[in-house]
Amino acid sequence: MRCFVVFFFIGCYLETISATLTRLEDTVDLTWSFDNDTIYWTNSQPFVFTRKIAEIRRDGVWYAANEFCAGEHGGTHFDAPYHFNKQGWKVAEIPLSRLIVRGVKIDVTEEVELLKDKALLLPEHLEQWEEDNGSIPKNSVLLIKFGWSKYYSNKTEYLGIDQQDNLNFPGLSEAAAEWIVKSRKIVGVGVDTASADAGRDINFPVHRILSAHQIYVLENVKIPAAFPDTGFILYVLPMKIQDGTGAPLRLIAIPHDSDLVPPNLKIVAMSPAVPIYSHIIIILSSVVLLVLYSSSNVPE
Ligand SMILES: *[C@@H]1O[C@H](CO)[C@@H](O)[C@H](O)[C@H]1NC(C)=O
Ligand SMILES: *[C@@H]1O[C@H](CO)[C@@H](O)[C@H](O)[C@H]1NC(C)=O
Ligand SMILES: *[C@@H]1O[C@H](CO)[C@@H](O)[C@H](O)[C@H]1NC(C)=O
Repeated sequence: MRCFVVFFFIGCYLETISATLTRLEDTVDLTWSFDNDTIYWTNSQPFVFTRKIAEIRRDGVWYAANEFCAGEHGGTHFDAPYHFNKQGWKVAEIPLSRLIVRGVKIDVTEEVELLKDKALLLPEHLEQWEEDNGSIPKNSVLLIKFGWSKYYSNKTEYLGIDQQDNLNFPGLSEAAAEWIVKSRKIVGVGVDTASADAGRDINFPVHRILSAHQIYVLENVKIPAAFPDTGFILYVLPMKIQDGTGAPLRLIAIPHDSDLVPPNLKIVAMSPAVPIYSHIIIILSSVVLLVLYSSSNVPE
């Protein structure tokens, strides 16, 4: 019995150590900067940044101010459900409880290496992910890494623009979008491509399926090469455009056990990280129990 208790404590301890290794080390910005080269859909107003004033005024005070003009859907941006659902939420209507949430990441870069722009996220990938990592937490955002961020600096390659001006890049399958809806756990989906729908899906089936269930979409997310599958919270902060169908987005991932997590997030945060003193308590109690156990077995 005592032996069991000791191993139980040691087991718990090892468990907490291994869990911390899969977490984000630091806060990560998943946003591309906006400038005149930012990628926008061809029919959309691109981001135009105009320097207006940058000078030392007569009273010696530095003063600088610029102007910008932009469509809603370009660069790292947010698609409100209203974009493809007349009854869907507009940008300013999204509840905050759905914007500061747990995040999970699924990596399908292997699929993309094989099939290039024809690759699709399939329900099988999501099922395999849950088998390996456990169930996707409720109220989370699913980031899908196609490994496409590496093309972002070249619009032709990133959008896969061919000779007929068609777009070619990977995306979600309709079946995966349906899986996401049925799971009832995911409030938003983020991709490191220009659209949740594959480039060639010009009828936007994935957008329509997700937005019919108030699930928002994050596009042109900058997903770094090394990024964990779980263990982070996302701050999904679109510009609060009152009637926006979408908006420029600031997307930040923070380790879920970080001190930066405001207290109201504790309800959605994963099992809290074990503070250092409890590691010490667990080790000490294991040692004490071990000593007790072995001394009780010493022959008299
Ligand atoms: C961005 O493009 C606009 C319009 O072409 C131009 O007026 C402006 O100077 C450019 N801004 C920068 C920083 O190059
Ligand atoms: C999560 O699932 C993916 C896909 O099945 C797998 O490659 C990865 O190793 C899993 N992560 C962990 C920490 O088990
Ligand atoms: C972008 O990629 C295309 C297609 O690979 C290539 O032809 C073009 O030269 C690239 N442009 C730049 C600025 O590198």
